[in-house]
Amino acid sequence: MTQVNAPEFVRHPKLIAWVEEIAKLTKPAKIEWCDGSEEEYQRLIDLMIANGTMQALNQEKHPGSYLANSDPSDVARVEDRTFICSEKQEDAGATNNWEAPAAMREKLNGLFDGAMQGRTMYVVPFSMGPLGSHIAQIGIELTDSPYVAVSMRKMARMGKAVYDVLGTDGEYVPCVHTVGAPLAEGEKDVVWPCNAEKYIVHYPETREIWSFGSGYGGNALLGKKCLALRIASAMGREQGWLAEHMLILGVTNPQGEKHYIAAAFPSACGKTNFAMLIPPAGYEGWKIETVGDDIAWIKPGEDGRLYAINPEAGFFGVAPGTNTKTNPNCMATLHKDVIYTNVAVTDNGEVWWEGLSKEVPANLTNWKGQPHVAGEKAAHPNARFTVAAGQCPSIDADWENPAGVPISAFIFGGRRADTVPLVSEAFDWVDGVYKAATMGSETTAAAVGQQGVVRRDPFAMLPFTGYNMADYFQHWLEVGQQVGEKAEAAGNKLPKIFNVNWFRRDAEGNFVWPGFGQNMRVLEWMIDRVEGRANAVETPIGYVPTYDDLNWAGTDFSKEEFDLITAQDKDQWITEIESHTELFNKLGDRLPQALKERQEALLNAVKTS
Ligand code: OXD
Ligand code: MN
Repeated sequence: MTQVNAPEFVRHPKLIAWVEEIAKLTKPAKIEWCDGSEEEYQRLIDLMIANGTMQALNQEKHPGSYLANSDPSDVARVEDRTFICSEKQEDAGATNNWEAPAAMREKLNGLFDGAMQGRTMYVVPFSMGPLGSHIAQIGIELTDSPYVAVSMRKMARMGKAVYDVLGTDGEYVPCVHTVGAPLAEGEKDVVWPCNAEKYIVHYPETREIWSFGSGYGGNALLGKKCLALRIASAMGREQGWLAEHMLILGVTNPQGEKHYIAAAFPSACGKTNFAMLIPPAGYEGWKIETVGDDIAWIKPGEDGRLYAINPEAGFFGVAPGTNTKTNPNCMATLHKDVIYTNVAVTDNGEVWWEGLSKEVPANLTNWKGQPHVAGEKAAHPNARFTVAAGQCPSIDADWENPAGVPISAFIFGGRRADTVPLVSEAFDWVDGVYKAATMGSETTAAAVGQQGVVRRDPFAMLPFTGYNMADYFQHWLEVGQQVGEKAEAAGNKLPKIFNVNWFRRDAEGNFVWPGFGQNMRVLEWMIDRVEGRANAVETPIGYVPTYDDLNWAGTDFSKEEFDLITAQDKDQWITEIESHTELFNKLGDRLPQALKERQEALLNAVKTS
């Protein structure tokens, strides 16, 4: 049996016994306790360069940066292989895949038996959230992928100091990950080991995560979607807080007034770009600062305000479409120390992806390691960069504040070619919850499956809620009620809730709204609504701005274009609201009555408008 040999900085007998138990099951050739040091990081990178998993990029152009190309079958999250194994099926709910914990354990025990043979098992200690913060949670990931170990060092606070916080008996979320590709004695490894069979399994009641068969992104970096969203959402429900698929940004106006906003969009819908927005011409003196680009943990304070932290330490962003026009701050963040996955590379060792530049460089090698063929994708549409958040020029001074930042407004946005206008403000908290719960969005390359089809993606959390979605809606309603009461007592206000759609198209299929920096105009209106100084008109679906209510300084965006993107078509809206019934029926009895009532009232209002 493999020697566990815990180093002296690990003083937690239960944790050591668990590592022993998993080693006994998975039978790795070796165990390495990661300390998070620079030396360790470089050693693992060099190991992956030696075995072909990674290649060094041009070190003058991309200092400290590397590229990994995954197996073509392992390029995105696998939602149909993701399971929530609560004791009762109804606690996982109709939107999650479920299996009984005992049956799943039996299956996984079979799959994990000997799964790490011939490989090293890395013990990766990490904190989601600033180390030692009362909001943070600790996880330990056991993985046989060095790619995961180095990526976790960028995406979470990873290293020895985590054990100081844990002490001899601190709590942690156990995360077990294998690529599911044991090596027989003398067998040569492939560059991206993985298994055609995949299981991403969560036990919300015992707070464990088990992942088999994939080395990619959210399937394998278990701190992110698995812990910070699926397990944390279940914890949040029990403990009265929220774990959300949201970016967090700070907006400061020329008068120095600052507001923080949290915004939920489905995967690959521009959260990273929005979080790092640069105000356009006409917005001199305004500032946007970034707290996070993907996940927010939000806790009610005694003053009736909601305080948010970004539990992550890095960005795992979609590369295609990112360039110096769409996201200059992101491009600056990528100036060094990046792990790229599935982008293309020039013969000069520089990265390239669709949208990086107009011209496609000559002699390009595509993400599959083959010469690029014109007309095909050089980078995979879900190609990613992994980079430390602290490198971002727009990072907020409070991004690591253990107390979090107070949220003034929530934004929910889907990708919709029609129906949904540029922006609307909810009438109240319940209406906001309804809007978020019934949000629809066209699917993207971030998950395996058909792309471009509208599906309901409540709160942009469809793939990430670790319990029954109907209970999740109820939790949001309750948080609103409790926080609302505290806020009133303290003279504060609940955050306003807005719905946006940057993706509406004209009859020719072109996007109408320029998006990116121009989204600042919508943000300004929202802030002014929060402050009670902007105008809006009441429509059946919410409060909306007229053309004159937005600031158009520095642009020639016309009233005709504005009318196109804000039009509310009565028939489309009736179809839209009626289609919410499909989701509501699916969720069944536990759906909060308040949402059913809201649907009826909304339908009535639209029909009689
Ligand atoms: C992500 C996703 O990787 O949402 O953030 O898929
Ligand atoms: Mn995401």
